[in-house]
Amino acid sequence: TRKKVKDILSGQVEDMSNITVLGWVRTKRVSKNIAFIEINDGSTLENLQIVILNPEEFEVLSDINTGSSLKVVGYLDEIKGREQSVEMKAEKIEIVGDCPSDYELQKKRHSFEYLREIAHLRPRTNTFGVVNRFRSKMSYAVHKFFQERGFNYIHTPIITANDTEGAGEIFRVSNFDLENLPLTDKGEVDYSQDFFGEETGLTVSGQLEAEVLASALGDVYTFGPTFRAENSNTARHVAEFWMIEPEMAFCNLEENMQVIEDFLKYLFKYALEECKEEMAFFNKWIADDNRVEKLEELIESDFDRVSYTDAIEILIEAEQDFEYDVEWGIDLQTEHERYLTEKHFKKPVMVTDYPREIKAFYMRLNDDGKTVRAVDCLVPGIGEIVGGSQREERYDLLVKMMEEDNMELDQYDWFLDLRKYGTVPHSGFGLGFERILMYISGINNIRDIIAFPRTPGNAKF
Ligand code: 4AD
Ligand code: MG
Repeated sequence: TRKKVKDILSGQVEDMSNITVLGWVRTKRVSKNIAFIEINDGSTLENLQIVILNPEEFEVLSDINTGSSLKVVGYLDEIKGREQSVEMKAEKIEIVGDCPSDYELQKKRHSFEYLREIAHLRPRTNTFGVVNRFRSKMSYAVHKFFQERGFNYIHTPIITANDTEGAGEIFRVSNFDLENLPLTDKGEVDYSQDFFGEETGLTVSGQLEAEVLASALGDVYTFGPTFRAENSNTARHVAEFWMIEPEMAFCNLEENMQVIEDFLKYLFKYALEECKEEMAFFNKWIADDNRVEKLEELIESDFDRVSYTDAIEILIEAEQDFEYDVEWGIDLQTEHERYLTEKHFKKPVMVTDYPREIKAFYMRLNDDGKTVRAVDCLVPGIGEIVGGSQREERYDLLVKMMEEDNMELDQYDWFLDLRKYGTVPHSGFGLGFERILMYISGINNIRDIIAFPRTPGNAKF
């Protein structure tokens, strides 16, 4: 019967005879009387050792290379006094797929830069096997957290006419009939006609649609791809990333911040308890500090909280030589965020009440008339991982903000309706999935935490 290597090595397999394993060869060693093949089937970091006691009877042996895919039939044998408790004695070996000896992934350490160029093969390395299994488990944790709390998982559109963040970072979506392009009076292509006559793009955030559903279901969350046409070449930005966006009706900023903190701690805990193999690997090979210890500490302590105004005070008093000068009203740059978390607070910090001018139109205006009920959660090593706010639920004020931002009100009549018909205080936030995975694992480039990073020049696969 077919078994996964993970189950075999963790002692889940009771009948040790007549076992079939399917996987890829990591190494092969052949000598006169015995041969060894290390096989990996993707279910775990560990390889299963296949022992061939009578190599001369296995003609296929000479055709097996690193990377070949195999079907091995045999029986399991316990071994004492070694890290791995079980090996497999082969009775039959079949090559499923050959692999020539110029295969790029020979047994040695490759740089992350090199592996990014062979993104179709890197999932087969130890590191990226771990990363991809970790990502899968943590996705499950995201759903588990919200489902356990009665949130509804909703699907918001990928193609949309609205620009939630108003930052002009939209990828256009067009279905133009190239034979019959719509033209403006000036004879230029009329891009406002791109989606069957409407102007559309790929979503930058599902928030506005999440507000619609929160206004009916109460507590909802999205977890899906979002897109930003920002041409920034940093270790923290990709053009396509996965965002988790909870939206909660009858919820103020304080309550929102509590959910952020509970959620992040839940993810830390889940990683420590349910992703032990991955966390041990990150600790040993990837992170430049002890992530396990760090996360344990974080779970026990409270995140810090500071208002934007106080944060600016701290930055000014720091007398640091920032590239970007600090004064009230600036948008915090990564260097500022990192100073706050790494040098000042030395742990995650939630910065609240940002100036209205630098935040999106939908955030609730404070009584001072110049700040809004925003919250960003910043963490050491990365900077912003969460952006959220209490939303403006008052019709007149929302209209005023939209007018200030030169938005077309009739494009957002549906959004305004939410404030007309039974409006409620509500809040939500967006967590960048890649960023939180980077933070937990210690992987320091976002290109290495998503299988197919979309960055300028990287769209082939
Ligand atoms: O701060 P942002 O732009 O917030 C929103 O989109 C809100 N509508 C969320 C909400 O309240 N529902 O983005 C939220 C998070 C950021 O904190 C960051 O973690 C991540 O999304 N993010 C990116 N991650 C990777 N690459 C990019 N280019 C990202 N842009 C934002
Ligand atoms: Mg933000």
